Amino acid sequence: MAKKGVSSGENLPFGEKIVLDNWNHKNIGVEAYQDMHRRTLTPEFWEEVANELDWFRKWELALDDSNPPFYRWFVGGEINASYLCLDRHMKSWRKNKVAIIWEGEPVDGNGNPREVRKLTYYDLYKQVNRLATVLKRNFGIRKGDKVGIYMPMVPELPIAMLALARIGATFTVVFSGFSADSLAERMNDAEARLLITANGFYRRGKIVNLKEIADEAVEKSPTVKNMIVLRRLPEMDIPMQEGRDYWWEDLMAGAPENAYIEPEPLPSEFPLYILYTSGTTGKPKGIVHDTGGYMTILHATMKWVFDIKDEDVFWCAADIGWVTGHSYIVFGPLMEGATEIMYEGAPTFPEPDRWWSMIERYGTTVFYTSPTAIRTLMKFGDQWVKRHDLSTLRILHSVGEPINPEAWRWYFETIGYGRCPVGSTWWMTETGGIMISHLPGYALIPLKPGTNGLPLPGINADVLTEDGKPAAAGDKGYLVLKNPWPGMPMTIHRDPDKFVETYFSRFKGLYYAGDYAIKDDDGYIWVLGRADEVLNVAGHRLGTYEIESSLVGHKAVAEAAVVGVPDEIKGEVPMAFVVLRENVDASEDLRKDLHQWVRKTIGPIADPGKIFFVSSVPKTRSGKIMRRVLKAVLTQQSLGDITTLEDQASVEEVKEAYRRLKSEIGE
Ligand code: WT7
Repeated sequence: MAKKGVSSGENLPFGEKIVLDNWNHKNIGVEAYQDMHRRTLTPEFWEEVANELDWFRKWELALDDSNPPFYRWFVGGEINASYLCLDRHMKSWRKNKVAIIWEGEPVDGNGNPREVRKLTYYDLYKQVNRLATVLKRNFGIRKGDKVGIYMPMVPELPIAMLALARIGATFTVVFSGFSADSLAERMNDAEARLLITANGFYRRGKIVNLKEIADEAVEKSPTVKNMIVLRRLPEMDIPMQEGRDYWWEDLMAGAPENAYIEPEPLPSEFPLYILYTSGTTGKPKGIVHDTGGYMTILHATMKWVFDIKDEDVFWCAADIGWVTGHSYIVFGPLMEGATEIMYEGAPTFPEPDRWWSMIERYGTTVFYTSPTAIRTLMKFGDQWVKRHDLSTLRILHSVGEPINPEAWRWYFETIGYGRCPVGSTWWMTETGGIMISHLPGYALIPLKPGTNGLPLPGINADVLTEDGKPAAAGDKGYLVLKNPWPGMPMTIHRDPDKFVETYFSRFKGLYYAGDYAIKDDDGYIWVLGRADEVLNVAGHRLGTYEIESSLVGHKAVAEAAVVGVPDEIKGEVPMAFVVLRENVDASEDLRKDLHQWVRKTIGPIADPGKIFFVSSVPKTRSGKIMRRVLKAVLTQQSLGDITTLEDQASVEEVKEAYRRLKSEIGE
């Protein structure tokens, strides 16, 4: 299995360097890069970047660090994200440039897309202004209000985000694959007044009834008073609750064609959105992002990492429900005035070459996806790629999880024809934008298969030992960011203490990412995976405790323990050990029911690869689940390495637990 070297750091090609000779103008050595980098670790450096944005009012203070770790960027400045993405382009030739090329999932008999929409910046501008009018006039949404969005991958999703940003309402997007319970939990935490959703959408050739899930969630979300429902599927009829639910199309028809809403001049530190992400507790954390700092990191990374140019056709093949889509489908590319691709459905529908056909159809130049997607498509074989001309591609990147060298090589050779810079951009929901990467638009350093590369200008990343000293080159340690950066999280919504505790306590005053990493002799960083009880399944973060809480919520379950095990495609999959309540019998039906239960309470992504029924879950004397033992049982790892690692458990207890579990699950 190619994964092996990644999480342990063994067998990674630290010394392998690939220099692209077609990239001469920006191809520099590591030392030259490090020299430049050293000079960028100041707030003044970031002021130069921020100066390239359009501000209504210039800031007075670049960085307010008077109340760490609650840093504030560009204090006194006034800005609006919707203005940056739209109004600014109205004054230039980009007004009629195509902003979004969208494809719906369904295809005709010849395999061609049945729905293609091309929206110019002017089209977006008009729609956003009309929707902003509706939000203000019909629903009284004002600056500071919270609004939920639960939508599929259609252009109306960025339109909704931009309309809310325009009037200064803070939005929270919930991934359309999440369940009613997950949606309700987020709406309640955010105290959303309104939910924008759609009747349904296509996924893998099937129709998903989104409104039905939204209805169930809104029943449990008392703050949500209204729903706006996009008729994504014209033929799909759904019940609408009189006085609560309104069709998007009807509302828009009621707003004048040339509606205009002044973009609200917002303080730089105004919360643009809240995005929920998993941590080590059962409850997702609402990460709050500001406006000025966030837009600044996006501007910088669109230029440095993606080298974005007017001629480019940019494609970030993520879902807007995750931070990748917020930053690199919505705000980043639109602020830069790029032409980008957006796709509703699955990469393998109707055949495994859907993405490659789209790259060819639109002449995509810059492509960004996840290692899981790369490994999935790689498995189908090169013949699917070879049917298409991918020669327009010039830059490739991946994100979300470590990329194993084998998948990197395939991406580089087979997709990029061995001539495109290929990077693995490291960042997180919390960081807002890319922090560690190759930067073909700034200065290209030699590539290495599987590395994340060097920290971006202005980003002070390092790898530390357990006791906070710089780790020696080649040693596994903890990834930290030592300086504040624009785009950093402002807080955890309604839980500032947790914000301090989660990110700034492990190494006092430094931002702790929660990742293991290795820095090699050249200073390249190789992120290996999570150092906490968080899983990374197909590039999506999931808390073990979240899945355990879901299982324990089922009436048949007394106790549950979840661990992640390496998976060839998804990077990691959750596995569950379940203790049933007394008088409940284990059965295949019950097992199926539990799988369904997790899907229903969290969403399909959290569904465990396997559920094992066991008589008890091994715990240490302080009551902590012995996760390493559970993992060892499933990965056939020897016990030698772990007996001393489970705190407060004797070697005998660990061995006993290991033997019992092995026999109970028959592995
Ligand atoms: C976690 C953050 C940022 C968008 C998607 C994920 C892992 C992310 C990489 C990479 C190795 C990576 C880390 C991180 N991760 N990118 N290029 N190489 N690991 O966002 O859901 O907030 O998850 O994803 O473990 O902590 P997220």
